[in-house]
Amino acid sequence: TSPSTYQRATETASHIRSALPDVLQNPKVAIVCGSGLGGLAQTIDPTPKVELAYENIPNFPKSTVQGHEGKFVFGRLGPHQTPVALLVGRAHFYEGHTMDMVTFATRVCKLMGVEVIIVTNAAGGLNQNYAVGDIVCLNDHLNMAGLVGIHPLRGPNLDDFGVRFPPLSDAYDLDLRVRVHRAWKTLGLDKQKRRLHEGIYAFVAGPTYETRAECRMLRGFGADVVGMSTVPEIVVARHSGIRVLALSLVTNSAVLEAGPLGSDEALQSMTKAELDAHLGRGKANHEEVLEAGREAAKDMQALVKLIVSDLHEL
Ligand code: 6GU
Repeated sequence: TSPSTYQRATETASHIRSALPDVLQNPKVAIVCGSGLGGLAQTIDPTPKVELAYENIPNFPKSTVQGHEGKFVFGRLGPHQTPVALLVGRAHFYEGHTMDMVTFATRVCKLMGVEVIIVTNAAGGLNQNYAVGDIVCLNDHLNMAGLVGIHPLRGPNLDDFGVRFPPLSDAYDLDLRVRVHRAWKTLGLDKQKRRLHEGIYAFVAGPTYETRAECRMLRGFGADVVGMSTVPEIVVARHSGIRVLALSLVTNSAVLEAGPLGSDEALQSMTKAELDAHLGRGKANHEEVLEAGREAAKDMQALVKLIVSDLHEL
């Protein structure tokens, strides 16, 4: 029989450990860097720092998306030299990976002793009050794929990690969220154009962006942002008792009103220019997503760095 997820994760964790010096053996914090947010890897203290490409790590899924790197970076971050594990790039379900593969790195983190995971992503903003470049501290989610059976914990329960029916009502750690808002204030980021929100993330399988009707549906369900990652990792992290902080960078607006395009009279009478204006608005594209990520990444990195610095007592 093929090795279990627990056996494979154990093998991977010990392979990684054998590549790490003593001071990096026990990262208490893992940080998953989403699209364009991998710059944190450059701010890690180089003394010592170990980078492992996913392709050289046994059992790891390979990244297939342009603009998404794939490497594990181990080092120490901030004034208190907090040992961290950075995941630069992640496996997505839409790439064709199974949910087991999408969440494999999270389980490896657990076996390496990680107690807190900070998950970041680029997301579309559904909330009208959000601007491109704003940051959202997640306090809940809608697992759209999970609700219809595409769920990382489907199948026999992995008792080595956690219980059969884990609660998710407390998934987004309140203490960590408080730290985010305080760090935001400390950094003086609230005096700039960019804003920090608390919000709800809708996870969809992708790879298509949402239709206008889907955007309105998700908004109606209470979602503030929408994206194609993060929730599987969070579910698996909570299953194994890892505390979770999740941050979304709003990289584009997914507020799509049907507007005049929804009515037959408008379609009869609108000029070509008017029609074009409506079609262009709110259309998501991958380049726009990467560009907004570059702009706001520095603030997001500063925020994560300060939070991690304050976690040294773990
Ligand atoms: Cl608009 N939708 C989804 N599903 N993911 C995104 C996005 C939108 N923008 C960035 N990531």
